[in-house]
Amino acid sequence: MTMNRVDSPDLEAASRAAAERITSLVRRTLDEHGRFSFALTGGSTPRRLYELLAGEMRRMTPWDRVDWFWGDERCVPPDDADSNYRLAWETLLAPTAVPVHRIHRMHGELRPYLAAREYEAVLNDVVPGVTFDFVLFGMGDDGHVASLFPGHAALDETSRNVISVEGPDHLAVRDRITLTYPVINAARNVFFLVSGAKKRVIVDEIFADPEGARSRYPAARVQPAGDLTWFVG
Ligand code: 6PG
Repeated sequence: MTMNRVDSPDLEAASRAAAERITSLVRRTLDEHGRFSFALTGGSTPRRLYELLAGEMRRMTPWDRVDWFWGDERCVPPDDADSNYRLAWETLLAPTAVPVHRIHRMHGELRPYLAAREYEAVLNDVVPGVTFDFVLFGMGDDGHVASLFPGHAALDETSRNVISVEGPDHLAVRDRITLTYPVINAARNVFFLVSGAKKRVIVDEIFADPEGARSRYPAARVQPAGDLTWFVG
């Protein structure tokens, strides 16, 4: 694994830097292998990035040839304001007319356990070797990644690639579906897009003391087989 960081003055600049790298990675991988599996993040941070990928930084990228997945989902219907799918649909997938058969959303409207089992089967069917070409993450102010929260038993999952979790009680939606470290750390490329002083301090800690940070922050345990790049704005 190689771990890099790209620092920018603000989220706009960080989103643009990430968009540049994502569009060239997608085009190169499609040229070489003819397919691309892209796992999207939720939260609010990626909104501008998704808008850029669909808009002024589309850079002739054939988004309709990408297979789209999610790193986690809140257990709500797809049209719910809290749905990670809805964020990506509105900002990226609908504006680029991605064919529906390429969109593999986590079914947050199902019972969490069933939705997790169903999604694990989808990954086995659609992602060769269950190895993502690319995973995009945000990070919480507590250092959580996807729906892997500090101190949660999910951090120790070693056999399942997708599980359901009940997140901490401060969350608006506690029931979640999430990828786990086995499939995350098998990925070829992982980007984090984070913004704000609190998150920048965590990123500084992760780079200064990677092993110590692993015990404090779930995001620090993301150590993919391939390349890891942090875009900090
Ligand atoms: C989610 C995300 C989660 C998110 C962080 C950061 O479902 O909420 O997958 O891991 O990336 O909570 O969220 P913000 O970008 O809103 O700070």
